[in-house]
Amino acid sequence: MVALMDQRERVAAVFDRAAETYDRVGVDLFQPIAARLVEELGPKVGERVIDIGCGRGAALLPLAAAVGPTGRAIGLDLAPQMVAATASEAAQAGLAVEVVLGDAQEPDLPIGSFDGLTSSLVLFFLPDPGAALRAWRSLLVDRGRIAVSTFASHSAAWEPVDAVFDPYLPPGMREARTSGEQGPFASDEGVELLLSDAGFTDVRTVRGSVPVRFDSAEHWYRWTMSTGQRFMWELVPEAERAAVRASASEAVEDTRRHNADGRIGFDQEVRYTFGRR
Ligand SMILES: C[S@@+](CC[C@H](N)C(=O)[O-])C[C@H]1O[C@@H](n2cnc3c(N)ncnc32)[C@H](O)[C@@H]1O
Repeated sequence: MVALMDQRERVAAVFDRAAETYDRVGVDLFQPIAARLVEELGPKVGERVIDIGCGRGAALLPLAAAVGPTGRAIGLDLAPQMVAATASEAAQAGLAVEVVLGDAQEPDLPIGSFDGLTSSLVLFFLPDPGAALRAWRSLLVDRGRIAVSTFASHSAAWEPVDAVFDPYLPPGMREARTSGEQGPFASDEGVELLLSDAGFTDVRTVRGSVPVRFDSAEHWYRWTMSTGQRFMWELVPEAERAAVRASASEAVEDTRRHNADGRIGFDQEVRYTFGRR
């Protein structure tokens, strides 16, 4: 139990530190993924929907817009700064959204009270994704819909960049973007099984690819500091960071020659998995 709490607290603390610039540094990744997820969920005017691990609202804000003022949209996140920033942004946008602090693993919300549930790029952070999915299922009405996105593979040409951090990762630890290399997140079937084992029916997957591009190695660095990858930097001892950044930047620059558009970056394969209570 102590270990589980450590993992949750560590993840939430990293996202808390990243919250101010999270998804706000001019890189398209979280929003196109969430937009597709929401579109496939198909929220209707007047429905009650929840977004678990809402971050800066990539899925929550379009959900709220879709259900409108007669519906109800709630976002839940364990990082207080994410909750505060998203609540304030939703208010500025004139959207009636509730953003609550809570644990995706054990959400403290009324059961059987939502028509739809989204969770974009969250499941692989949780200590027990199967238990979380069972809890999420109980939040839905009968035949209520769930839509989750997870990372699948990304361009092989980006591997030298990821490899720069390998010596600093504790044994068994995966960075979220590479979580698709093993365990339940390694295949469509693995994620589908997580949902069906949790009791969901009509489980299906669609795939998409998002081109993630950066203006420069410096832009890439700012982006890493604004996401969960910030934790990779925090694992590198301070005295080594400049050297690690220099070799990572070299590997980042090298990806230009693999991309048809000549830009720095990678293509991220994304898995969208759906089911019903
Ligand atoms: C990769 S971000 C995705 C955020 C948002 N869904 C998006 O697509 O931009 C993961 C989010 O999950 C949240 N998170 C991680 N573990 C959590 C937990 N146990 N309970 C609630 N939120 C959690 C983080 O704070 C972070 O905001």
